Amino acid sequence: MNVLILGSGGREHAFALKLKESNKIDQLFVAPGNAGTDKIANNININPTDFNAVKKVVLEHAIKMVVVGPEAPLVAGVHDFFLADDELKNIPVIGPKKDGALLEGSKDFSKQFMQKHGVPTARYQSFTKDNLQDGFAFLETLAPPYVLKADGLAAGKGVLILNSLEEAKTELEEMVSNQKFGAASTTVVIEEFLKGIELSVFVLTDGKNYKILPSAKDYKRIGEGDTGLNTGGMGAISPVPFADDAFLNKVEELVVKPTIAGLQKDNIDYRGFIFIGLMNDNGNPSVVEYNVRMGDPETEVVLPRIESDLFDLFEGVANQNLDTKSFSVTDKTATTVVLVSGGYPEAYQKDKEITGFNTVEESIVYHAGTTIKEGKVVTNGGRVMAVTSFGNTIEEALEKSYRSIDKISYDKINYRKDIGFDLV
Ligand code: AMP
Ligand code: GLY
Repeated sequence: MNVLILGSGGREHAFALKLKESNKIDQLFVAPGNAGTDKIANNININPTDFNAVKKVVLEHAIKMVVVGPEAPLVAGVHDFFLADDELKNIPVIGPKKDGALLEGSKDFSKQFMQKHGVPTARYQSFTKDNLQDGFAFLETLAPPYVLKADGLAAGKGVLILNSLEEAKTELEEMVSNQKFGAASTTVVIEEFLKGIELSVFVLTDGKNYKILPSAKDYKRIGEGDTGLNTGGMGAISPVPFADDAFLNKVEELVVKPTIAGLQKDNIDYRGFIFIGLMNDNGNPSVVEYNVRMGDPETEVVLPRIESDLFDLFEGVANQNLDTKSFSVTDKTATTVVLVSGGYPEAYQKDKEITGFNTVEESIVYHAGTTIKEGKVVTNGGRVMAVTSFGNTIEEALEKSYRSIDKISYDKINYRKDIGFDLV
């Protein structure tokens, strides 16, 4: 069977490598892909949100399943597009339709969903420019820090955490009245600040049955000690040591089960991943956010720990018999360290030749922002590669990742040397 993966990051390279292990797959295509996927699959240079271009690729290459990496095509309705097209409607798409993708596409919708279905989350209210004064009044009922979230997709930048009430009021006004985040901040969710340690739990569901995938913790800030600007993610670790069985049981009972049941009650036929961002406050889970896809770089530690055939699991999602599929995970720890372009997450240069990654033996080098120019592998994005290793402990895995990184070079390479610092 031929399979198409949409996306171009480390996450998609990890999907591709994992799916390659399945003997049920004939040809693998990635659109648009990167220099890493180019080595192991067929890259096709189209934009994943150009659905007519996706259709052309699917028909031309006899694709029989589409796996969607990023959220944008899901929120824009790629799954709905397939179902509405006579030539595509029987080709399964791994990823929710528009109605399910709203869990990520609208913070207001996802908060309403959690409240309605009893999923623990921070107390909140939503505001627009029409009730800005009520927003100010609600802020006055909260204690600092204040959490303001643009309702719509804002490229991971739409959440503000502010220490002063005055600043929170000013920013609220900027968001709703002056469209600080464009249309995404027409509505703003204001919520209570949650204390605790953050982690992510990933679920694969066919709409009725689910598998809970390994948990992971990512490191979002550019600087060591979790300082500086937010990034897409500088590293990740799986499993998360403080997420013990008792905590994960609570997550399953209090979060995963009501989420899946809630989707069914609301007639949302959800086939794909749910990425649950959680706060662990003294052993009690509270949901920070849902994403409707896998995380990046979390995928680069979650997928390598899965021992089962991922394609077989995806067939279970498509055929709604995920409960019949075997699922196992290694006990080993996986760590990944992300190599970025100097300057990222602000301005950075591209087209720097990358060398040495082919000599890495004790880690998996996932490509993210890489491409091929004149036969050379060069940088093509802020996040360039994710270097994943296994170990019996976090320390052992990280030592391997850092040894492997020493072999890789390009102009202005940057990475955090302290991934996992808070866990070891
Ligand atoms: P989100 O895009 O909703 O994941 O928010 C981005 C980040 O802001 C999260 O990963 C948290 O670190 C932080 N955050 C969001 N909401 C809250 C909250 N209610 N309390 C504390 N931190 C939060
Ligand atoms: N690493 C966080 C995300 O994928 O959203």
